[in-house]
Amino acid sequence: MTDGPSRRDLLARLSATGFASLALPAEAFAQGAELPATPACEGHASATPRQTEGPYFTPSSPQRADLRDDGNGALLVLSGFVLTRQCRPVPGALLDFWHADTSGQYDNRGFRFRGHLFADQQGRYQLVTRTPGLYTGRTRHLHVKVRAGGQSPTLTTQLYFPDEPGNRRDGLFDQKLLMTLRPAEGGQLGRFDFVLAG
Ligand SMILES: [Fe+2]
Repeated sequence: MTDGPSRRDLLARLSATGFASLALPAEAFAQGAELPATPACEGHASATPRQTEGPYFTPSSPQRADLRDDGNGALLVLSGFVLTRQCRPVPGALLDFWHADTSGQYDNRGFRFRGHLFADQQGRYQLVTRTPGLYTGRTRHLHVKVRAGGQSPTLTTQLYFPDEPGNRRDGLFDQKLLMTLRPAEGGQLGRFDFVLAG
């Protein structure tokens, strides 16, 4: 078995280059890149837990990595890797995100706060959006589907916010699905690495 780039190598590369494709301050991306991995992936990793899709998934979302213009609220710049359980990057992985707007409403007729994007050749992805609002019965969360491509199984799951009071009361909440967040100008930088089951 040949060794692919280690996660440390990838992080070093990420720190060095940042994600240059979006018109946000380079400093913000450098900060995001230095966030610790979530979860740790040092050779063998547990697959990211699956969670229910919920009632509000809409297929065929537009391809776009920047949902900023879909509403108001604090910016959330979420980045990370899509990895195998051996901590190898998954180039070109599909990530399809959807979440509520700042008032806790889903757009079930159109595609506000819905979009899919692809990881780059190093398995990196980045989503720019607004922090979702709360709705009755749930803590703050993002929904996402991740797929390696072709006929691979889809990972459907949800991501959660640290220090959210509602986490303790939410029956679906799983701390393995917590993003790492750091304040930045206009909002927060988030980090989450997805690990696909196989
Ligand atoms: Fe939801």
